[in-house]
Amino acid sequence: MLIRKPADILPSEITSKENYLKRRDFMRAGALAGGAALASPAFAAVVPDTSRMMIPGVGKSDLSTDEAPNSYEDITTYNNYYEFGTGKSDPSRYAQSFEPRPWTITVEGHAEKTGSFDFDDFIKPFALEERIYRMRCVEAWSMVIPWVGISLADVVQSFKPTSKAQYVSFETLDDKSRMPGQRRRVLAWPYREGLTIAEAMNPLSILAVGLYGEVLPNQNGAPIRLVVPWKYGFKGIKGIVKISFVEKQPHTSWNMAAAKEYGFYANVNPEVSHPRWSQARERRIGAGLFASKQETLMFNGYGEQVAHLYKGLDLRRNF
Ligand code: MTE
Repeated sequence: MLIRKPADILPSEITSKENYLKRRDFMRAGALAGGAALASPAFAAVVPDTSRMMIPGVGKSDLSTDEAPNSYEDITTYNNYYEFGTGKSDPSRYAQSFEPRPWTITVEGHAEKTGSFDFDDFIKPFALEERIYRMRCVEAWSMVIPWVGISLADVVQSFKPTSKAQYVSFETLDDKSRMPGQRRRVLAWPYREGLTIAEAMNPLSILAVGLYGEVLPNQNGAPIRLVVPWKYGFKGIKGIVKISFVEKQPHTSWNMAAAKEYGFYANVNPEVSHPRWSQARERRIGAGLFASKQETLMFNGYGEQVAHLYKGLDLRRNF
């Protein structure tokens, strides 16, 4: 058994940074003991289980921020996942019995390789890395999250998209019986998102399969979700079952729901107000009610890595 749960760590201890670092050492030790190499994470050993399992063989990344991560509790109890309700605490309450296995991911469209893949086979070829990213949501809150993920660029390249593929689109599972929030038409299901090929190929883009060194909790998008840290949170589609290489800009859920409020690009931009509120400042979740808000940074602080993608594009129109 290559994935283990540390018996000596109580859930109540999990939030402190000290314990997080201890647990990372445990994880590394576990990976070594199991002989798991970085390039073949042996993640396939994960069976249907939503409990808190450590992921072995996770490397570190130079792309991580050194800001302190939010607590596990903040990250897993303050969520947006309308398939499980529209309240921030609904996903942590109502996604508990969701089974993210078996899980099939279908890749289609303009690519040399396409097909349907079991989740474990899908991610097996790719290196797992921890990426500690600043995340910013449209409603003006932010968090720092230690994701575990695979490079989206590596995934895209492995399917060999043709020159016709200008965009990559993503879809969430569409199944009312497993996702009770889909019984209400609060959004047009399935949830959809998309990136340009250049955005998908940017080294910052990942498909996350875990956080805090552990398998991704259901409320955060198990078993696999998109993370693009320079964009507002709604681009980070959860519970992905389909990836398509397409020629035209794909329809995306929030843009379909309210085009004037949510653009396709959704780059974090403190200079462009949302129609109903300023986007210049943000509240770090967990900082306490009396903590002052902080300035929001252009591209959420990732401008050096991504500003070149938008040269010549009017970011007020292409918001
Ligand atoms: N993905 C799906 N399938 N359904 C959703 O409702 N909400 C989005 C995004 N991905 C959403 C989704 C929004 S609005 C945000 S802010 C992020 O998920 C929140 O991710 P988190 O709960 O892990 O912080």
